[in-house]
Amino acid sequence: MKGLSTSTLFQQNYNANTHVVVNQGGTSSGKTYAILQVLFCMACAEEGMVITVVGQDIPNLKAGALRDALTIYKNSALLQRWVANYNRSDRVFEFVNGSIIEFNSYHDGQDAKSGKRDYLFINEANGVDHAIYTELALRTKRRVYIDYNPTAAFWVHDKLLGKPDVQLIISDHRHNPFCDDGMRKRIEALKEENIELWKVYARGLTGKVTGLVLGNWHICEEIPEHAKRLACGLDFGFTNDQTGCIEVFMQNGQLWVKELFYERGLTNPDIGRKLTENGVDKQMLIIADSAEPKSIEELRRMGWNMTGAMKGPGTVNLSIDILKRYRINITRCSVNLIAELGKYKWKTDKNGRTFNEPMDGFNHLIDPLRYIALNKLRVNTIRRSRSKLPWKEPNFGARDYDMALF
Ligand SMILES: Nc1ncnc2c1ncn2[C@@H]1O[C@H](COP(=O)(O)OP(=O)(O)OP(=O)(O)O)[C@@H](O)[C@H]1O
Ligand SMILES: [Mg+2]
Repeated sequence: MKGLSTSTLFQQNYNANTHVVVNQGGTSSGKTYAILQVLFCMACAEEGMVITVVGQDIPNLKAGALRDALTIYKNSALLQRWVANYNRSDRVFEFVNGSIIEFNSYHDGQDAKSGKRDYLFINEANGVDHAIYTELALRTKRRVYIDYNPTAAFWVHDKLLGKPDVQLIISDHRHNPFCDDGMRKRIEALKEENIELWKVYARGLTGKVTGLVLGNWHICEEIPEHAKRLACGLDFGFTNDQTGCIEVFMQNGQLWVKELFYERGLTNPDIGRKLTENGVDKQMLIIADSAEPKSIEELRRMGWNMTGAMKGPGTVNLSIDILKRYRINITRCSVNLIAELGKYKWKTDKNGRTFNEPMDGFNHLIDPLRYIALNKLRVNTIRRSRSKLPWKEPNFGARDYDMALF
């Protein structure tokens, strides 16, 4: 379509002629963007097209495909002429020719039986049940697009790939001319940190991502009403990295975590505004990355109750040991934190052997969680651990120590 800047991935998806088009790929390859552009074109090309974009849940859609769709729409004067209205509460683009693009999520197969459509897009399909896919695909007349990062084989591999009416397109950041250099570097740097993650996120190859650093987290709907606020955690970023901020609560001996913001390009006054917008009051303790004393001081002068996270050798592993002792409940809306936790692995060498050190990168919301562990949860934990030790403290690696205790 004139007025849209596109990549080769767009051409491949636009020209596909199978009923199902599977886009497997590394991160930032442009899959979601390209498929959305194709869907916008289809909506304009014919009257009355019904197009459904499906995600695991609404927060994931809002932070991913829906946000990208709004960006594409806002950046194209031509599209703005084609779209009569964007209905924010129902998440539907309504076109002047009667076509619609709706964004939705479904609880189960039964829920997915309602409605029929011309085109379907299952965004990040490894978060969507096969039963939901089946019901939706059955009711899709023209084409089904699917995209995902292949962290492990799932129903697409078992039930779709290799079938006659299914096309597979594998892409990675090298296919995306719009990916910035900082992001490319961070993706390629995974090779030094964890080869399995590099295969998945840098090359789009099906992996077997196991052995996450933190496996003790669960998704919850909301923070319980009477949970006690512990602190906020803050990691500074600017051009290349996001500034990440979370709020942590405690109830019944469990941690409850909510992502507050995760954004590039924030100055310190912007951070202050974001804190206020998110209901953080000036008494609330904010534990921040101690590598940025100047920013901490600037925010303190604005009236925020800032402190630097404890630092020094061994603190990264110590904080992980502390976090492992809790059940960590993360609100469903914390999509960026959940995405980071899904990638947070131990470093490996090129033969896949694991080091006792977590990878560094994609942790702008995990680091704030570690800061809170170090400054607010540490004392009790160490006291409790020592009293439980049946022997003199030996030189265990942090993880052995954890295993020996629990
Ligand atoms: N045609 C385009 N025009 C402008 N920017 C683009 C285009 N395609 C991709 N981008 C940029 O590249 C980024 C990554 O693209 P996209 O989100 O589609 O990748 P992805 O393959 O879906 O990544 P992930 O697997 O992490 O979801 C986008 O956020 C956008 O900034
Ligand atoms: Mg995507």
